[in-house]
Amino acid sequence: MEGALIARDRVGVQDFVLLDSHTSEAAFLNNLRKRYQENLIYTYIGTLLVSVNPYKELDIYTVTQMQLYRGVNFFELPPHLYAIADNAYRVMCSEYNNHFILISGESGAGKTEASKKILQYYAVTCPTTEQLQVVRDRLLLSNPVLEAFGNAKTLRNDNSSRFGKYMDIQFDFKGAPVGGHILSYLIEKSRVVHQNHGERNFHIFYQLLEGGEKDLLCWLGLERNPQKYAYLVQGRCAKVFSINDKNDWKIVRKAFSIIDFTEKDLEHLFGIVASVLHLGNIQFEEDSNGHAIIRNGTQIKWISKVLSPLNVDLAFYARDAVAKAIYGRTFTWLVNKINGSLANKDSTRKTVIGLLDIYGFEVLDTNSFEQFCINYCNEKLQQLLIEMTLKAEQEEYEMEGIEWEPIPYFNNKIICDLVEQKHKGIISILDEECLRPGEATDLSFLEKLEEKVGDHAHFVTRKLADQKTRKSIDWVDFRLLHYAGEVTYCAVGFLEKNNDLLYRNLKEVLCNSKNGIVRDCFLLSELDSRRRPETVATQFKNSLMSLIEILMSKEPSYIRCIKPNENKEPGKFDDCLIRHQVKYLGLMEHLRVRRAGFAYRRKYEHFLRRYKSLCPATWPHWHGPAAEGVERLIKHIGYKPEEYKLGRTKIFIRFPKTLFATEDAFEIRKHLLVSRLQAKYKGRLGKRDYQKKRKAAIKLEACWRGVLARKEAKKRTWAVQIIRKFIQGFINRKKPLCPENVEFVRLVQYKYLMKLRDHIPRNVLDKSWLQPPSILEEISEMLQKMCIRNLVRKYCRGVTPERKVQLQQKAVTSAIFRGKKEGYQQSINLPFADTRLSISTSNLGDGIVVMHVPEDNKQKGDVILQCEHIFEMVTKLCMLANKQNLVKVVKGSLRFRIGSGKEGTMVFTVGPEPHVFKAKDGQLTVVRPHQGTGSLVLAFPSDAQPLWESLRKHPWKRVVSVKRLLNRNLKETQFVFNLLTPFSHPRCQTRQSLDEKQFLVTRNGKEPAG
Ligand SMILES: Nc1ncnc2c1ncn2[C@@H]1O[C@H](COP(=O)(O)OP(=O)(O)O)[C@@H](O)[C@H]1O
Ligand SMILES: [Mg+2]
Repeated sequence: MEGALIARDRVGVQDFVLLDSHTSEAAFLNNLRKRYQENLIYTYIGTLLVSVNPYKELDIYTVTQMQLYRGVNFFELPPHLYAIADNAYRVMCSEYNNHFILISGESGAGKTEASKKILQYYAVTCPTTEQLQVVRDRLLLSNPVLEAFGNAKTLRNDNSSRFGKYMDIQFDFKGAPVGGHILSYLIEKSRVVHQNHGERNFHIFYQLLEGGEKDLLCWLGLERNPQKYAYLVQGRCAKVFSINDKNDWKIVRKAFSIIDFTEKDLEHLFGIVASVLHLGNIQFEEDSNGHAIIRNGTQIKWISKVLSPLNVDLAFYARDAVAKAIYGRTFTWLVNKINGSLANKDSTRKTVIGLLDIYGFEVLDTNSFEQFCINYCNEKLQQLLIEMTLKAEQEEYEMEGIEWEPIPYFNNKIICDLVEQKHKGIISILDEECLRPGEATDLSFLEKLEEKVGDHAHFVTRKLADQKTRKSIDWVDFRLLHYAGEVTYCAVGFLEKNNDLLYRNLKEVLCNSKNGIVRDCFLLSELDSRRRPETVATQFKNSLMSLIEILMSKEPSYIRCIKPNENKEPGKFDDCLIRHQVKYLGLMEHLRVRRAGFAYRRKYEHFLRRYKSLCPATWPHWHGPAAEGVERLIKHIGYKPEEYKLGRTKIFIRFPKTLFATEDAFEIRKHLLVSRLQAKYKGRLGKRDYQKKRKAAIKLEACWRGVLARKEAKKRTWAVQIIRKFIQGFINRKKPLCPENVEFVRLVQYKYLMKLRDHIPRNVLDKSWLQPPSILEEISEMLQKMCIRNLVRKYCRGVTPERKVQLQQKAVTSAIFRGKKEGYQQSINLPFADTRLSISTSNLGDGIVVMHVPEDNKQKGDVILQCEHIFEMVTKLCMLANKQNLVKVVKGSLRFRIGSGKEGTMVFTVGPEPHVFKAKDGQLTVVRPHQGTGSLVLAFPSDAQPLWESLRKHPWKRVVSVKRLLNRNLKETQFVFNLLTPFSHPRCQTRQSLDEKQFLVTRNGKEPAG
């Protein structure tokens, strides 16, 4: 893996551990320089990050970059702050423990920038929610506020932190930032009243004057010109081109609004800032008593009153003391206020990542109490680093029985002791001088130091120094040989700054201030307290102790910042300066320990607990001793002997790659296990769900079946009742209607009627009728009668008058012929014509009448009758036939048919005697007599002989004589009846019109017998 990393790296090596000559300082510097010149400002020593201030904006802090580093193995990508931040975050999330990132380096090396970038990284990459957005913004925006009040331009750094800051970012179990807490350390108050040449006061003063709204400045009584304020002009650089105060003011104002500052708070806060500026402008002069009075300005006479009876020097001193006290305490108030807005009220357990950005090691031309404290602080942090890395590491190897050749390193504990040891340390001596009765001065303090720590190897004064060094040390100076180099401190002001006293009457005034913040900062209870407050140095020492304690309880990550040159110049790599830093930061020792040592160690139990899933023998439980379990485990994974060592209680892994490979394997395994767990769990859920559904389905089914069964049962009960009723009805069907049979009978009636409807006869001839059940016979009979009557009526209505006549005739025919005469049956359907008869007579007085047979019957001949009452007879015949144009009266002769299509002629003449004769040619001649009775000539077909016979025998006495007219050869015989009575005799009637075949004469309306 590391091979790949080298390839990935364009310049030098990205981890000093990979340097060939790891003991060579030159090689170390070379690598650093090469990378720096390519803008690769970060390099690792194992897991420690070395950063060189580029003094220019680099394109490596974008959101894309942040995403790139998020969740990636530490060594996978080129070194970066983000890798350190992400590593700490990931370990925190997976192991649920607390971390801190210690950012160290001298002033201007880039610590504050680094801490801000880390904070931004968390703000961007950590999961968050809408509610947590506010927390995130507040965490981010606490920076500009604190920087405005706590940072200033110094010679080393245009944005130098003049206070120490430790910030805890709190995360919930999901890894979302949910709150924060800030600890601040010893703000450099002296800067409020005094700045060295080329330096500025705290940014806020300039920001307010540059950016403050006109109204605000007016209200505060300020002018937009820093030159007007004594506290702002001492450094003679109120304007700095790299700082945009106006812009920064806007940012600070916005930050205030987000961090929960009310308008009142801001009013008070800016009031304090302004009052400090005003204080600075107060000038005193001596009155006649040698007392200080305020030079100009009547309205603040009280100040001189409060301050009197002081001389002018003391008055100035008191003025500055008030300014410092107000500013210093306001800063503390500010930090508390921010903490209030960052606080997470939720009591669930949280993990934290602490960011320590504390003022860096500082060597100025004149170093005072503040530098002493700052450098002491750096000394302590160096000590912490040594304790936690070099020393602890080597001791651990020894303790664990790992073969180890000790690597010498400079342990700065000796310097720490020099400063902080009880009773013997510089701070104790300083406190003693401050507290002791009598005239204690900075010089007496110096003497005390010489007396008590004069023999310490790291302490020198002019008196103690050798000839050569003496020149560079003043009488009022003392020099400490810090781990990072020599620093000469000027003892002047040490006592006063350490005491940090404020005149009681001034305090009283401040306690009663109308400004809320001032009142909060100066509590009345403080006035009553008899106890002497702790000195500044002791307070600082104690706060450092507790900081170290806080840090010791957390997992560390280190960033070592290096300043490449003194001129804030980009690209300039000052070898000498950097070599010095590399040395005092102990980077070479760190590298050597790292190289010789092991990248990773872990207690057997922990190691086994984390990775036991990688080996079947240890998964899921290992019951033997943890060490053995680990041995089995690593054997299974296949660690090579050179990759690890087994200590007494821990396993030591030499190369990160070995651990990463294991971690990767674990990651894969974890996924596998998780998916198995998920599968099991999902299975359970599915099963539970299935069971639930099944139960529900069964219940539903049961219910539904119940419903169906009840329905069925109801139906059956109903059916049984119906059947029973039916049977009962059937049994009782013959009884008169009663409840037992009424329904049955109705049903039978209904059924019969419905059936009958489809079988009703449709015409009068249809005699069929549906057989009724026995109980309905009577009704059925009635119905049938009705039906027939109805049909007949309908039929009768449909009969036309012509048809009626026809039918009447047919009825007569039936009466005459039915069952008697052949052919009757066939004749029924043949309708009778109105008349087939036509009659001819001559115009003479004879009694001859010829009845013409219709021409369609060729077989038959016409009937020739001779009748006495010819007029009567013909008229009656016409009336009978209901036709008047039936009769033709001819002159001379007429033609008639004889039969078989032959015709004969009849000639009429007048003679003396009635006579009818047949000529030889067959012509029939009729002679009219002058007088006599009528005769009736009837012509019958020859086969009508029997009819004729019966007529002759008939006792119809009025037929007087009958003559045979025709010869026998003829098929047709014509007879002449001599009738005594005319045809109209009431007893002689014809019921029907004359027919060519039959001529029936009945008497009294009856058929002639025989
Ligand atoms: N990573 C960086 N990229 C660009 N400029 C930087 C970076 N780190 C520091 N600087 C520059 O160096 C100056 C000093 O950095 P700062 O973090 O304030 O130093 P320190 O806090 O160590 O005193 C910054 O104002 C900035 O101009
Ligand atoms: Mg800083």
